[in-house]
Amino acid sequence: MLISLVGMPGGGKSTVGKQLARRLRANFVDTDAAIERRIGQTIRTFFEEHGEAAFRDVESEVLRSLTGEAGAGPAVLATGGGIVLRPANRELLRKHSSVVYLHSGPEELFKRLRHDTVRPLLQGKDPLAKLRELYQQRHPLYQEVAHFTVETGRPSIATLVNTVLMQLELAGVLVPGFPQSPVENGNARR
Ligand code: S3P
Repeated sequence: MLISLVGMPGGGKSTVGKQLARRLRANFVDTDAAIERRIGQTIRTFFEEHGEAAFRDVESEVLRSLTGEAGAGPAVLATGGGIVLRPANRELLRKHSSVVYLHSGPEELFKRLRHDTVRPLLQGKDPLAKLRELYQQRHPLYQEVAHFTVETGRPSIATLVNTVLMQLELAGVLVPGFPQSPVENGNARR
């Protein structure tokens, strides 16, 4: 059973994902962390040295191997914000996992990412304009790949995690109740 979180950078995928995994007693995997382990350097440096296309190639390879491990046990996968750009990645995510879109608008993201120095795409002069552009391009792709959408808005992380759990329970992906126990052959499709 695999649950994937998709959405814009700064939308809380890693934070929510970690807590969700804890609640489900599942493994937590972060594609960005897996990529950095594979390339042996930070994503920012890799972008500078090899460019975005090379990064997307590694990202696809890492996603393919992580989704291939889906049978290995329950897991929560936090993905990089640009993972949805390639149709093959969207297909892998949708086929092998229950996909949750953590939706936030560009202004809200900007508040959280104003001081970011890690994300290569946001290091330009006008990060808000960049976030707006990325949002316009990617929002339809997140919607296309997602089985579920959760608004990040104002709620606390704990509330967000509960909302995600509730949606997965209602859809029959998870058995209701706490402590959570994943359904063996969870329904990954809408
Ligand atoms: C990217 C988002 C980052 C990381 C890379 C590219 C993007 O992940 O994969 O810097 O294209 O939006 P987060 O969404 O975790 O920041």
